[in-house]
Amino acid sequence: LSSLEVDLSAIDEGQTMTVKWRGKPVFIRHRTDAEVAQSAEVALDELRDKQTDAERALNPKYLVVVGICTHLGCVPISGAGNYQGWFCPCHGSHYDISGRIREGPAPYNLEVPEYRFVEDKKIVIG
Ligand code: FES
Repeated sequence: LSSLEVDLSAIDEGQTMTVKWRGKPVFIRHRTDAEVAQSAEVALDELRDKQTDAERALNPKYLVVVGICTHLGCVPISGAGNYQGWFCPCHGSHYDISGRIREGPAPYNLEVPEYRFVEDKKIVIG
């Protein structure tokens, strides 16, 4: 199984980069401070799949999620939907800026792959 090294310095704040890992898209979002704050303040009882943002992001400035909708596997669109995170156009699932399911048929949050920081701005996925 392969690992993938990604240089995060190539992603401007407010932008999402899509990389391919083990044949799947992985979204890496360099979040703004406002997005970090907004993600942290969501109450767990508002969530279908209850995870805090801190459980999902090793460094709150960067969110790393597998870009496959947990409903039936379409690839969601970045920066879209009612929560400005991701929107899956197949059946209308809305994910927030932490990749958590907020509206629509998907049962789970976007999956966080196994990854680690090897430098301040460099991660290895897998
Ligand atoms: Fe995404 Fe159905 S596959 S909403």
